[in-house]
Amino acid sequence: MFVNLTWLGHATWLVESGETSILVDPFLDQSPVAPVKAADVNPDYILVSHGHQDHIADCAAIAGRTGAHVVANYEISVWLEKVHGVRNATGMNIGGNFRVPFGNIRMVPAWHSSGLPDGSYGGNPAGFVVTIADKKIYFAGDTALFSDMKLIGSQGLDLAILPIGDLFTMGIDDSVAATRLVEPLNVAPSHYNTWPPIQQDAEKWAERIRRETTARPFTPLPGESFQI
Ligand code: NI
Ligand code: MN
Repeated sequence: MFVNLTWLGHATWLVESGETSILVDPFLDQSPVAPVKAADVNPDYILVSHGHQDHIADCAAIAGRTGAHVVANYEISVWLEKVHGVRNATGMNIGGNFRVPFGNIRMVPAWHSSGLPDGSYGGNPAGFVVTIADKKIYFAGDTALFSDMKLIGSQGLDLAILPIGDLFTMGIDDSVAATRLVEPLNVAPSHYNTWPPIQQDAEKWAERIRRETTARPFTPLPGESFQI
């Protein structure tokens, strides 16, 4: 079975396979590049990689409207319940697996920060390895390059989604190095072209991925999809 991935701009991704849809890092209504609004999406699950506004902004509203199951680190899950009344949240932590009907969600490290929009402590930033339809997809989240990415890749990844925007996360050089470390079959860029400070040329990135790694690059525009 195929997995369909749609880039909703910035670090927001919609993952669909069979009856299941998963929304990652929902930042839609305030995003200058999102092709849809928070009111337009109906995910079964919402994954939140860390507490920053550009990753959690629309989480509570979407979860409140749809009843989507939110998966985040423990501190963020408690904050969503207490501050925003989210009812269906699972807190986890780095290294843990959460077995779900469609497969598995594994929380992995990311080098970043995670303060919540109101200043609350947001725990540690994370990435996810999502197993769905026998495909393993690594969402690196907001992160720097780190050598333990090799361990994450050793599970065998069908797709890695890596930030390339620079300034707040890895830029192009480090995302190419990260691709060499995790050795995914496919790779797609994220967290870029939202605002001028994180503008990047995705085609230049893709050219380097083709030349310097064994992965196949996908560079959808916001609203576009690809399948693995
Ligand atoms: Ni961030
Ligand atoms: Mn971010």
